[in-house]
Amino acid sequence: MADLFSKFDPLIEQRETLLEGGVTDPFNLVMEKVESPTVAVCNGQRTVLLGTYNYMGMTFDPDVVAAGKQALDDFGSGTTGSRVLNGTYAGHKAVEQALKDFYAMDHAMVFSTGYQANLGVISTIAGKEDYIVLDIDSHASIYDGCKMGDAQIVPFRHNDIDALEKRLKRIPEGAGKLVVLEGVYSMLGDVAPLKEMVAVSKANGAMVLVDEAHSMGFIGEHGRGVAEAQGVIEDVDFIIGTFSKSVGTVGGFCVSNHPKFEILRLVCRPYVFTASLPPSVVATAATSIRKLMDSADKRAHLWENSKRLHAGLRQLGFSLGTDEPQSAIIAVIMPDLETGASMWEALLQEGLYVNLARPPATPAGMTLLRCSLCALHTEDQVGEILEMFAAAGRATGCIS
Ligand SMILES: Cc1ncc(COP(=O)(O)O)c(C=O)c1O
Repeated sequence: MADLFSKFDPLIEQRETLLEGGVTDPFNLVMEKVESPTVAVCNGQRTVLLGTYNYMGMTFDPDVVAAGKQALDDFGSGTTGSRVLNGTYAGHKAVEQALKDFYAMDHAMVFSTGYQANLGVISTIAGKEDYIVLDIDSHASIYDGCKMGDAQIVPFRHNDIDALEKRLKRIPEGAGKLVVLEGVYSMLGDVAPLKEMVAVSKANGAMVLVDEAHSMGFIGEHGRGVAEAQGVIEDVDFIIGTFSKSVGTVGGFCVSNHPKFEILRLVCRPYVFTASLPPSVVATAATSIRKLMDSADKRAHLWENSKRLHAGLRQLGFSLGTDEPQSAIIAVIMPDLETGASMWEALLQEGLYVNLARPPATPAGMTLLRCSLCALHTEDQVGEILEMFAAAGRATGCIS
């Protein structure tokens, strides 16, 4: 009998080699206690969190937590059903209304995760005769949405406007075209040139979907994302987002002004064939989204944090994913996985948690220490983070 697991042998071996030295498994860390959006206890030690997607620090917001508790009392722990059967409660309608208000759009559809939102919307709207043109560095959920559908897939070089235009011009006249972009690319923290890309897409008759998972709440005057910041939100046909980052809970969504959008509720399999989100989750999400509308001060502070950390890390001699800070993500480029893992471990021992990111999640085979900032990191904490990077960097020989 062929062992179906033999295909994983190279990965098993690489993992064992990495852990042989007795280091903590970077992909199996336990948060023993979470004290706030920026501090947890890991391995018994106080640890500053610099590797969460809690950009706006909403997870412990008293109003958000109270809304969740109230919904648990009023509606119970779960819906035990699909949105199209018994799984639509008042809370699901309320969170969709909060999204419509947040984005000033006509339609909002909530999924159980952001992953499912991409899976569902992309696979449903692009059919057999259609083409999906997507940035090669797109998130796994975008690729999986393409795989699940029947459309032709046409990738183009990351953030390359000319490459996008060339691909679009090669598509047969009259074919349906969907361009899929992200506002912020989560590995390097770089922003897409949406202004130009949306213009090129529209000029070539394509509909545009933008995943704003890593920009919602933070980027743009109202926190609507990169499309808002670059003045093209009106021209974007579909915005995909998640509750698992700035909103501070779990869930995903698509918002749109398309007049026929609501039909998706009947034809989108990852919406229909799964249970809806628990009442407590939609209640926390709705409260959080409404508070994010009014969070200009937090957005300004998060930008300050991002600028300080970027400048400080560069001054220490680290190589970074972007020349300027473009988002709340700052990626520190490591020469290889072994060095990355030892630096990650050294940081953890100092009391700092960051994400160790490696292929296939990262572009160009890179190993990254991905830092994501929170609006609730204080100026002192950013200073403390830089001190920990300096100490760990010197201990591992990453910087001199
Ligand atoms: C760009 C992008 N889209 C979608 C998702 C999926 O979001 P969720 O965690 O809600 O499934 C992620 C998650 O990391 C992401 O980075």
